[in-house]
Amino acid sequence: MKKNPQTALIHAPRKAPQYVSTVQPPLFRASTIIFDSTDALFNRHWTDRYDYSYGTHGTPTTFTLADNIAQIEGGEFCLLAPSGLSAINLVNSCFLAQGDEVWVADNIYGPNMEHLRNLQQRYGIQVKVYNPIDAATFQPTDQAKLIWLEAAGSVTLEFPDLIQLVKKAQAHNILTALDNTWGAGLAFNAFDFGEAHLSVDISVHALTKYPSGGGDILMGSVVTRDEKLHHQLFRMHALQGISISGDDAAQIQRSLGSMQIRYEHQSQSAMTLMHWLKQQPEFAQVLHPAVESSAGHAHWKEICTTSQSAGLISVIFKPEYTLQDIRNFCDALSLFKLGFSWGGPVSLVMLYNIKDMRALEHTHLQQGLLVRFCIGLEHPQDLIQDIENALKQLKTLHIE
Ligand SMILES: Cc1ncc(COP(=O)(O)O)c(C=O)c1O
Repeated sequence: MKKNPQTALIHAPRKAPQYVSTVQPPLFRASTIIFDSTDALFNRHWTDRYDYSYGTHGTPTTFTLADNIAQIEGGEFCLLAPSGLSAINLVNSCFLAQGDEVWVADNIYGPNMEHLRNLQQRYGIQVKVYNPIDAATFQPTDQAKLIWLEAAGSVTLEFPDLIQLVKKAQAHNILTALDNTWGAGLAFNAFDFGEAHLSVDISVHALTKYPSGGGDILMGSVVTRDEKLHHQLFRMHALQGISISGDDAAQIQRSLGSMQIRYEHQSQSAMTLMHWLKQQPEFAQVLHPAVESSAGHAHWKEICTTSQSAGLISVIFKPEYTLQDIRNFCDALSLFKLGFSWGGPVSLVMLYNIKDMRALEHTHLQQGLLVRFCIGLEHPQDLIQDIENALKQLKTLHIE
């Protein structure tokens, strides 16, 4: 039957997809997914691992990435979200209800804390803060439902006492959720990290960082091993209409092949810079889990291998340096760009006033303003040179 041109343009002859072997998997873009028959329509169930029924549930492209992330992290099931923060919020909104208590490390990713404080105000959820390097400060009551862990923690990079914290949470039947962005599934296995195969229940990962590796794509994941937990999350994921673009998933999938090499390279460069930074007189403290005097160093050593420690280092300037001095220092850098995030090819710098960011007293942190360096893929000697130049300018301006 000859079709009208308008119809012909839409129903162009096309063959059913043939298997073609390519290095990267084919890209599927879909809101609508076409069912073969009414049987296929009525026989589907949302709990099917690969429920091809609508774009928000997933496509071969998103399921491929999800399976890969689950495998890298040592988990079984993975859900994808449009950003790391959206993945965090999925966990909070899925498991917390009115009257519940949630425990949060004082060095947790800031917007996670803000989201929880928002839930506290609106729904009466009790937010309790613990010191990640002192498991004794985690004192759950019978209302405790969830504990958030992060290894190493945001900005100040203390490595938590994961073993004691997870043991205690399990003894009290509390769900354990780890922000695993720093470790990326490479520095340690969140689902089997020591003392008799301890495991967290949920691992959240900002794929925006190392998996993307380009500094250009936002995405997050929630990995579990337990099917019941996964189905609870999957239901909430569907109800909230969380979905990601196939194009973004394909981009991240493409970067995964080089992730471990990039991660190791950035870890090694960060180590080189860390040793150099420790020698510079302008700093009161260098924060990195591999620095022996850093809080949580022993926990890091217990769980991670030395070549796997991500590309983040923070320094606290001596108190005589003012905010204007630190701003001058950041502005004087040339290779390090001023910006949030990490894991991309370009090194980044960000300044923080740590006093405003912590709820508890932390005697292990020196007084002074903090600068965080995120090491990219540049040669470490060039990065050292860049900091050296900026420190020279800082000294000149500080004296004037
Ligand atoms: C530790 C950590 N978790 C989660 C996130 C959130 O990721 P996204 O930027 O994709 O929302 C970030 C972002 O900086 C982060 O540093």
